[in-house]
Amino acid sequence: MRKGILLAGGSGTRLYPITQVVCKQLLPIYDKPMIYYPLCTLMQTGITEILVICTETDLPLFKSLLKNGHQWGIKIEYTIQAKPEGLAQALILAEPFLNGSPSALILGDNLFYGHQLQTTLQAANNMTGATIFGYHVADPQAYGVIEFDQHKRVKSITEKPTTPKSNFAMPGLYFFDNKACQYAKKVSPSARGELEIVDVIIQYLNTEQLNVNILGRGTAWLDTGTPDAIADATQYIAAIEKRQGLKISCPEEVAFSMGLIDQHQLTILANQLIKSSYGQYLLSLINKNFPDEMHQY
Ligand code: DAU
Repeated sequence: MRKGILLAGGSGTRLYPITQVVCKQLLPIYDKPMIYYPLCTLMQTGITEILVICTETDLPLFKSLLKNGHQWGIKIEYTIQAKPEGLAQALILAEPFLNGSPSALILGDNLFYGHQLQTTLQAANNMTGATIFGYHVADPQAYGVIEFDQHKRVKSITEKPTTPKSNFAMPGLYFFDNKACQYAKKVSPSARGELEIVDVIIQYLNTEQLNVNILGRGTAWLDTGTPDAIADATQYIAAIEKRQGLKISCPEEVAFSMGLIDQHQLTILANQLIKSSYGQYLLSLINKNFPDEMHQY
């Protein structure tokens, strides 16, 4: 069974002074903490064992919010990353937790939303080797960038290139087989002093074990590393939630719709939050007889 790694460390310096005392992944995106979004992405994939990696300072806060996951029918464990020494370090830190299992690594500041996303995620879950995603963006130089040849095969992947070879950025969600820890250990620090995830992915590319799945226009991928990006994500989530009367990325709702918790457990969770519109929303889900299409997030 594939296990999840949710990377929520880092120093958040691009958001100072907001993140001087609260870490980025606990900041609100509209009506819920940022970390709920990537957590739900892992849950929608069908992953029920998740390792949260964070700083020592933030560990009590994450534990207090997410607990051991039992309330949502999943299992959450925690590991400390002492210094933000790169995304690939997460794979090394997660090695004892993974214990030979394949993994899905997601960044705690990445939000995914869109039609049929759950199907896309579950398809990636069933692939061998490594699977990454490609997403057309206006500013590729801020990301890992995927270059394709004329046969639409991956030619290169470069972290934050000054002259990007395409507009396809690589979102912070990566599916790996059980070789990822071993590959991560072979990576040397980059010029910015980090173990780059790109250098793990290139090892899959070089051994023809890399799949790239392009996320179409109907999918939203937002990252939330700057004040503007947080404001954009908040407005996006608010607009859709208000229009539909449905919420995006509530772990309680995902757990309920995936059969991880039952109606009784959902009622208990809803009542704990009942003074907020979030809690009232959870309660409104009980006895709602949605057509199957509505169980897709
Ligand atoms: O958002 C997608 C992009 O994420 C990818 O396109 C890039 O290839 C990938 O390198 C990454 O780029 P960023 O510049 O956004 O990475 P950043 O250093 O901001 O880290 C992303 C998140 O991971 C951030 O919320 C903090 C956390 N983090 C980061 C590092 C380096 C950690 O928890 N530990 C770390 O060591």
